[in-house]
Amino acid sequence: MRYLTVALAKGRLAKKAMEIFENIGMPCDEMKDKESRKLIFTNEDKRIKYFLSKPSDVPTFVEYGAADIGIVGKDTILEEGRKLFEVLDLKTGNCKMCVCGPKEAAEKLRHHELIRVATKYPGIATDYFFNKKRQTVEIIKLNGSVELAPLVGLSEVIVDIVETGATLKENGLEVLEEIVPLSARMIVNQVSMKMENERITKIIKDVRKVIEG
Ligand code: PRP
Repeated sequence: MRYLTVALAKGRLAKKAMEIFENIGMPCDEMKDKESRKLIFTNEDKRIKYFLSKPSDVPTFVEYGAADIGIVGKDTILEEGRKLFEVLDLKTGNCKMCVCGPKEAAEKLRHHELIRVATKYPGIATDYFFNKKRQTVEIIKLNGSVELAPLVGLSEVIVDIVETGATLKENGLEVLEEIVPLSARMIVNQVSMKMENERITKIIKDVRKVIEG
């Protein structure tokens, strides 16, 4: 039996995903060793390999078949626009992609003014403003702490993830428009889905059972 390879987005999501895989009898004890510098972890019994990568790279590994399965946020799937199957909503890491800014920016949005939009997600922001809203804006790519942008005058609004809303509130910003709800998803390589259909379908079914609890 060949190994199935699972790519996990580093961080909180990977921890949650491993809890789920443990629950369906696909644990990986090797991964729990915090001192380890290993990059790939194996469950020999189940013929599964796990690896952690930057979230934005997970869809790339899956599209090219370097991973058969991936666990990653819907935000990353939308932004990367890779060819793959999204097979399951893990119903964890729930949050929303939103247009946010100071209250006054709402008027500018309404009047379709040529505003600047700072974001870590230029793909999602471009699709939303240009294709869905038919509003011409200037998109500025940032790599983090995006909420800073309207505070220091880089942009009028931001497109960013809102989870609790605490970051916005503490910085005098608010949600002006909601773009899309987000959560963690399971993705599958399109060829693997055919070649390893039985094993992958079973994993999807078992994970769904755990989620629906
Ligand atoms: C994310 C997001 C917001 C914040 C939202 O940032 O970009 O800044 O969390 O969470 P809240 O609504 O619960 O306050 P992250 O911590 O991933 O870091 P980043 O600023 O580097 O993107």
